Amino acid sequence: MLFTSVLAGLALAGAASARVEDLPRHLRLAYRDLVNTTSTNGNNASLPKIVYFGTGGTIAGSSGSATAVTGYQAGALGVQTLIDAVPEIINITNIIGIQFANVASDQMNTTLTMQLSRNISEYLAADDVVGAVVSHGTDTLEETAIMLDLTIKSDKPVVIVGAMRPATAISADGPYNLLQAVSLATYPGAAGRGTMITLNDRIGSAFYTTKTNPRSLDTFKAYEQGYLGNFVGATPRFWYEPAKVLNKPYFDVTNFTTLPHVAILYAYEDMALDVPLVSAAIASGVKGLVIAGSGDGGTDSTWNRQFQSLCANASVAMVVSTRTGDGSDAPDGDSSPTISANSLNPEKAKIMLQLSLAKNGYNITAIKKDFDSDYPTLG
Ligand code: SIN
Repeated sequence: MLFTSVLAGLALAGAASARVEDLPRHLRLAYRDLVNTTSTNGNNASLPKIVYFGTGGTIAGSSGSATAVTGYQAGALGVQTLIDAVPEIINITNIIGIQFANVASDQMNTTLTMQLSRNISEYLAADDVVGAVVSHGTDTLEETAIMLDLTIKSDKPVVIVGAMRPATAISADGPYNLLQAVSLATYPGAAGRGTMITLNDRIGSAFYTTKTNPRSLDTFKAYEQGYLGNFVGATPRFWYEPAKVLNKPYFDVTNFTTLPHVAILYAYEDMALDVPLVSAAIASGVKGLVIAGSGDGGTDSTWNRQFQSLCANASVAMVVSTRTGDGSDAPDGDSSPTISANSLNPEKAKIMLQLSLAKNGYNITAIKKDFDSDYPTLG
């Protein structure tokens, strides 16, 4: 059978119980609105079939004021409402809408996003499903996007979409963004490009695209790598033949319900005073730490010495990224105890490190190989 409900999926994935009230608190929060919400809008079975998972966020946000773009409730409207708001969607696709969650994206987590990945993979394995769309809050959208990109093994397009203005706002951007996302998921030229992020007429790679501004509509950017394409109206236009991230690793999350705990620490002047933050993180049981270093992964040298020895003693993997918002750290040599995040920003590096630790354990050489993936091998 093609469809497995999200709760059934959770039970299959090893959660203690399929009853929402028995789930851990963070999962209960995310699943609080999940009541019989699978809806099929198969008005025209001859159109390409896609699956659409709603998870909440501003795109599903609602406010009493048409001018409010802050202070609204994210994750208020259901997938059926979002689909119904854009009747053009059923002219281009035979869409299956699923309410996976309905939350602000700060309540998403890797247990949920791995489950989302498995659910999407299940649908994409069906011959008649041509692609998948996920709507999501924009705050952590890029983290879910890279999780999907690294864990879904299908050439069919996976598109993740959000909005910066709630559905009730004047000039809400969600409806057109959703139409474009659906159009992209049905577009034959979208295959083989990994998971894509689309907002504001742009198509970006999930691996590289990041939220750059808390408010503006053109917030999602990949300055260094650029966009994969854009839209003319609702029609996607790609700049290149299907482009894949070089040597991108794949992680099989079929059997994982949780991932090793990884935290992010931020570099700043005077950070030598805050070595106890590293000890506190280690004491809390982290298996990995990502540093949002200054410049090319820079940290205070005293702090760095102590950090390296604390982590090495506790077998905690150390990944160094940059707080600059863009660019690549130089790859660390084979003998270095730290692992360069290369072009991944700290939040994406955290997801990669969690997946790599789950696959490899504390094996620095193997983790380095996963992080080296977007570096061409020389010679
Ligand atoms: C959220 O991330 O859920 C709220 C912000 C947004 O969707 O833009």
